[in-house]
Amino acid sequence: MYDIPVTLAATLKQKPQDETKLGFGKIFTDHMFMMNYETGKGWHNPRIEPYHPFELDPSTMVLHYGQTVFEGMKCYRRADGGLQLFRPRDNFKRFNVSADRLSIPQFDEELALEGLKKLLDVEKDWVPHNEGTSLYIRPFIIATDPYVGVKASSTYIFCIILSPVGAYYAHGLAPVGIYVEDQYVRAVRGGFGFAKTAGNYAASLKAGEMAKAKGYDQVLWLDGVEQKYVEEVGSMNMMFVIDHKLVTPALNGSILAGITRDSILKLAASMGVECVETRLAIADVFKAAHENRLQEAFGTGTAAVVSPVGELCWNGEKITVSNNEIGELTKKLYDTLTGIQWGRLADPFGWIMKL
Ligand code: COI
Repeated sequence: MYDIPVTLAATLKQKPQDETKLGFGKIFTDHMFMMNYETGKGWHNPRIEPYHPFELDPSTMVLHYGQTVFEGMKCYRRADGGLQLFRPRDNFKRFNVSADRLSIPQFDEELALEGLKKLLDVEKDWVPHNEGTSLYIRPFIIATDPYVGVKASSTYIFCIILSPVGAYYAHGLAPVGIYVEDQYVRAVRGGFGFAKTAGNYAASLKAGEMAKAKGYDQVLWLDGVEQKYVEEVGSMNMMFVIDHKLVTPALNGSILAGITRDSILKLAASMGVECVETRLAIADVFKAAHENRLQEAFGTGTAAVVSPVGELCWNGEKITVSNNEIGELTKKLYDTLTGIQWGRLADPFGWIMKL
């Protein structure tokens, strides 16, 4: 057992009245989990505090060199009112993998999980009720030494904040249009593409804006060496149904080891679908489309869940996937995954942690 003291907020915010308008990541709850790190002392002082702004010295290292990592997971409300988490230990494990790449000290994953559970116990009324809504959980660590030399910080803050959310994309389950980026790259071999760290997302913004200006929702990144092979979308891993097999880029060090990606592969395999993790050339995806062998495409992620892709544009050529409608397998996987996550379906995989 861990000692995690709770300080309650003196006044509470008003909870969103209309859960159909939550959007994503704009509203935050009344409390947060915090702990600190200092060289020699290790991680210490885990606690629940009222949600509040940080006061940071302008020289704080994270502001200059981006030494920071984050995670994303969700707490779901079942029809019986009870709450549950989806594979939280896998998220904290991946959080430590990201931390290691950014020279951030390892934390006790069980302590983080206990801290999260305690925070959720305090904030349980913030978990929304409407279909498709959940409480998004954002753990993050920032480097806090006041110093502008380049080195690993000797102090850190670990924090978990919570946000009631609806669909990540404003248009919900309607298929998204994806622009295959051929100028910029997101990550290179030996870099930190596999880590959930700010720099990967900052590096994606310019290409994202350019794709939006062309009428697309998201950018699909190609590998950073030859710009030939499919990597990921940034907020999602990519999956294609080609020749009725589920094909996805193999984990190669420059893409995120998505927990939704892994869950979808396991679900599809359990449905008897052949799954292929491979080095997937974008030219082969387009060739499959030309030969009517590309049946479906979708992205997977905690925030995006399963998001159908209806259009892909690469090298000036646009292809439509699955008539710009959600594909049959995509829908089945979406229904099964969300059924397990929201407790409508049994969980034969041991992914659910009831609170
Ligand atoms: C998530 O799916 O939880 C993510 O971290 C994606 C995010 C950048 C919104």
